[in-house]
Amino acid sequence: MNVIWWLIICLEITLNASPIINIITLACPNECICLSQTQVLCNTGGLQEIPVKHFPPTVEHLSLTKNNFPIIKSDAFGGLRALKKLTLDGNNITTIKPFAFRGLPRLKELSIQYTPLTTVAPFAFAGLQNISTIILGHNKILRVEGYAFAGTANVKMILLINNPMIKLEPFAFSSLTNVERLILPSGLRQIEPDAFNGLDIVGLLKLSFMDLDSLQPFSFRNLHNVKVLSLQESDLGIISEDAFDGLAYVESLNILNNKIDAILELNLTESHNIKALKIYGNHLLETPEPGTIILDGIETIIVQNNHFPCGCHIHTLLESPLVNTSSYDHHEFLSKNFCISPLELNGLQMSRIDLSSIGKCHEQVTRENLEASTGRNSKNI
Ligand SMILES: *[C@@H]1O[C@H](CO)[C@@H](O)[C@H](O)[C@H]1NC(C)=O
Ligand SMILES: *[C@@H]1O[C@H](CO)[C@@H](O)[C@H](O)[C@H]1NC(C)=O
Ligand SMILES: *[C@@H]1O[C@H](CO)[C@@H](O)[C@H](O)[C@H]1NC(C)=O
Ligand SMILES: *[C@@H]1O[C@H](CO)[C@@H](O)[C@H](O)[C@H]1NC(C)=O
Repeated sequence: MNVIWWLIICLEITLNASPIINIITLACPNECICLSQTQVLCNTGGLQEIPVKHFPPTVEHLSLTKNNFPIIKSDAFGGLRALKKLTLDGNNITTIKPFAFRGLPRLKELSIQYTPLTTVAPFAFAGLQNISTIILGHNKILRVEGYAFAGTANVKMILLINNPMIKLEPFAFSSLTNVERLILPSGLRQIEPDAFNGLDIVGLLKLSFMDLDSLQPFSFRNLHNVKVLSLQESDLGIISEDAFDGLAYVESLNILNNKIDAILELNLTESHNIKALKIYGNHLLETPEPGTIILDGIETIIVQNNHFPCGCHIHTLLESPLVNTSSYDHHEFLSKNFCISPLELNGLQMSRIDLSSIGKCHEQVTRENLEASTGRNSKNI
């Protein structure tokens, strides 16, 4: 505080003394402090609208916190072509109009936090060609509508933490390319099909603390070139057929520490171009049906520290591609995974149970008999 007063006093003394710097005072709105021609603070409240025309056109850092701006209009900052960093935290922003930030070719960082904003509307951030960070944490954002970030190339980081968002809508991140980190809030309850459609070249896409009924078909359709896609610390519910359909070129698909009710299908083939699949620390409540897990063309598959049912279905599990049979006779898998059920085996390392004492399930025996008999029949023909 003292430092700021001191600066103001110094400024006023200099301002009164120098007609050149007086021009800055003219170009500084009353409610603001123009620390220099490049740095302006309007953090004390009282502004009802953004006095764009009164800022020095050279301003690079503009902080407008705790004012009363319910609506950010289109082109609200037009003309501030030198602006690099803009902070709008703590305002009562409820609406950001399309192209609100157009005409800011040098803007690198935009922060809008602690506002009552509920919706990020289509094209809200369109036209920011040079932005690297958009910070949208601690708002009341429920919806990121389709194409919200359209026309915003080269964003490195989008931070959406601490918003009460429950649903990711189709095309919400469409046309974003080259995002290094997309950090979503916890508590998501629904990922709509195509939520990530059109998102290309992503470093880290982390989805954590979700509470889903199911991972729906086509959740990741047209999501391409991802270094790490991580689904973690979530209730994933049921993994539907085609959940990962259309996802391609992923260095590492991580499924970590989730609860999974069932996997109806996990079909990851060459066309997905997934280098590594890490299934680690999950609790899977049901054994996938035979033939529903297809893992082809994945260089590294790590399945460790998971809990699986160890009833009669354990034999189905051990025949599934989740188990790397080329690594010494199931042993690796059995020693690194655990039983979730039946109750008396809960928590037990799989290698410590006597597999031969667990009978195959009735339907498996029937199926094998059927296969054997149809095999015989076809040989007879
Ligand atoms: C929000 O901004 C409007 C400006 O029109 C003002 O009237 C209203 O009192 C503000 N609300 C709060 C909670 O600051
Ligand atoms: C983007 O920012 C860099 C410096 O960070 C600058 O050299 C470049 O001219 C900017 N691009 C545009 C379109 O202004
Ligand atoms: C698995 O996916 C491939 C293409 O990605 C498809 O050709 C095949 O039919 C699918 N298999 C099943 C069982 O759905
Ligand atoms: C299966 O295990 C072998 C031997 O440990 C290993 O070389 C191979 O990479 C594993 N396969 C996959 C797909 O991880």
